[in-house]
Amino acid sequence: MASIDIQAVRKSFGPVSILKGIDLAIAAGEFVVLVGPSGCGKSTLLRLIAGLEDMTSGQIRIGGVVVNDLPPKDRDIAMVFQSYALYPHMSVRDNMSYSLKLKKTPRERIAEAVNRAGAKLGLDALQDRKPRQLSGGQRQRVAMGRAIVRKPKAFLFDEPLSNLDARLREQMRFEIKKLHRDLEATSVYVTHDQIEAMTMADRIVAMNGGVIQQVGTPLELYDDPANMFVAGFIGSPAMNFLNGTATAAERGIVVRVGEAVLATLPPVAGLPADGRVVVGVRPERVACGTAGVNARADLVEPTGLGTVLHLQLDGQDFKAFTTDRPAITVGEQVPLAVAAGDLRLFDPRTGERLRPAS
Ligand SMILES: Nc1ncnc2c1ncn2[C@@H]1O[C@H](COP(=O)(O)OP(=O)(O)O)[C@@H](O)[C@H]1O
Ligand SMILES: [Mg+2]
Repeated sequence: MASIDIQAVRKSFGPVSILKGIDLAIAAGEFVVLVGPSGCGKSTLLRLIAGLEDMTSGQIRIGGVVVNDLPPKDRDIAMVFQSYALYPHMSVRDNMSYSLKLKKTPRERIAEAVNRAGAKLGLDALQDRKPRQLSGGQRQRVAMGRAIVRKPKAFLFDEPLSNLDARLREQMRFEIKKLHRDLEATSVYVTHDQIEAMTMADRIVAMNGGVIQQVGTPLELYDDPANMFVAGFIGSPAMNFLNGTATAAERGIVVRVGEAVLATLPPVAGLPADGRVVVGVRPERVACGTAGVNARADLVEPTGLGTVLHLQLDGQDFKAFTTDRPAITVGEQVPLAVAAGDLRLFDPRTGERLRPAS
């Protein structure tokens, strides 16, 4: 397995700049998830790694070797797509064998590799079927089997589960992770689904507008987001953002939303002169019903696992999530509390995180 080093990579289509300077070092054996909204450049970056597209400038190394001028077939990388891209007229066995046949691998070695992959992926009984005789989940397994038999230096996945229903997606997520644990294969997995990113990644790369916003473990991004984009993208229900103020006081800064005082925090660096801030708080960190600031309940949504409360504070919408089943009715005033350590402050002008002054 090989490391992948991406340095100062830019990609434009005509005059339109799509990737605006990507730097990313992926360790051998790592499972990295690229996550971001549709159109942010995820597939383009994957295609540059695979060699399916030329970069405008920058450098990509695979296993320490610069691959900028290597055609895809010489990069020894396997790509798994959302669309499966299986040969419709070939059986499962032949689809999985194809790349090894092209490489003139001896027949017994091919059979062995295909049988091993088939067993791993639960395709034993399906080897003689054609793709049209398979379900979506089975086709996706064949596409992965075809990638595995090649023993590539790295796997690239481009939204491989997007065509599957929710239950199957969950199962395949688990199977891909298990497979990764088995094969210890360097993997770059692209998705727009933050749950897939959180559950599968060793490290998440959050992208927006052709720029990497933050790189870190799932919980680093969840607990310590670099900016409002990452804070809002990771986590469901999403982090609340409230317009508020932070004013210097004797022991730090007092954070308010409207008249309500939420907390006193240690001073932050770069506080805007007018004191305006965006106050971020995760719904699951809002404690409801005991004491604190009053907010009006607009909607009560039971999810089974818990309850999402839609609330209003200072005329601003926000949500609280609790695993209790609180007896709250619409229109009621609900007392809320948030621990100081659970507030995240952002600069409303830039969206960047305001961190404690050191
Ligand atoms: N071959 C191309 N020619 C022109 N524009 C392209 C081409 N491929 C992608 N784009 C544009 O680049 C942007 C990023 O696309 P893509 O990498 O597919 O995004 P993502 O995979 O994150 O949804 C989009 O605005 C898309 O329209
Ligand atoms: Mg894409």
